[in-house]
Amino acid sequence: MRFDIVTLFPAIFDGYLTQGLLDKAIQRELVQIHRHDLRDWAPQTPHRPVDDKPFGGGPGMLIQVEPTVNCVEAVQKMDSRPARRILLTPQGARFDQRMAEDFATSDRVLMLCGRYEGFDQRVMDILQPEEVSIGDFVLNGGEVAAMVIVDAVVRLLPGVLGDEQSNIDDSFSRGNRLLEFPQYTRPREFRGHAVPEVLLGGDHGAIAQWRARQSQLRTQQRRSDLLPNCDPNSGHEINNEIDNKP
Ligand code: 6GU
Repeated sequence: MRFDIVTLFPAIFDGYLTQGLLDKAIQRELVQIHRHDLRDWAPQTPHRPVDDKPFGGGPGMLIQVEPTVNCVEAVQKMDSRPARRILLTPQGARFDQRMAEDFATSDRVLMLCGRYEGFDQRVMDILQPEEVSIGDFVLNGGEVAAMVIVDAVVRLLPGVLGDEQSNIDDSFSRGNRLLEFPQYTRPREFRGHAVPEVLLGGDHGAIAQWRARQSQLRTQQRRSDLLPNCDPNSGHEINNEIDNKP
C-alpha cells in the first residue's frame, strides 16, 4: 500500500515514521509513505507563498487552490495507481475503525493536510476528496490526523502485526465492536489487588464467558453508544454490575 501525504510541514512526520511498527513495515516494504511539500508547487518568488487572505474578510489565511490542485495532480502521476483522495479537516466525516478497515483495502491513499483556516473551497470542488476528521476538537493542522490514520490503517495490512488475531480482537475491530475486557499478568496479587480467580483456574469456557461479560459491562458503562439498538441521546446508562474487585 502506498500513502502520499501533501503537507507544508513534511518534517513533522520524521520521528513517527522511523520508530517501531511503522519503521518495520516500511523496511519490509509492506507500505510506502511519500511526503510532498506543498511549497514545492508555489510560485517561484522569494517567499513561495501558498496562502492568502479570505475574500469577504475574516481571520487567518487560506491555502490557495492553484498550488494545491497542481501538487495533487503531479503527485497522482508519480504512480500509475489512482489514489483515493482524503482531505483532513475538522469539517469532515468522523474517522473510525470501519473507515480504517475500508482505507486498508485501497492500494493507494493520498492525504491532504490543511493548515491555517483551511483550503479555498475550490480545492474540494475540483479534487472532490473525501473530507475526514479525527474527532470533535481543533488541531493546528491535518498532520497529526494523517499520522493517526496511517497508524490505524498500517496495522491492518497483512503481515504488519506479528499475531494476526490481535487485529480481530481489538476494540472496535471486525470481530468485536465492544470495548476490550480487562487483562492481568504476574504477580497474582499486588498491594491487595488480586487477579480475578476465574482467570487462574484454566477453565477456558468460563474465562471466555467472563471476558465477554466484562466487555459488555464495560461498554454499557463507558460507551453505551456502541451497543446495538442504543439511543445515542439516552446517555451512558449506569450499570454497576461491573466486576473490578479482586
Ligand atoms: Cl483532520 N484537522 C484539523 N485541523 N483539526 C482536526 C482534525 C483534522 N480532526 C479533528 N480536528
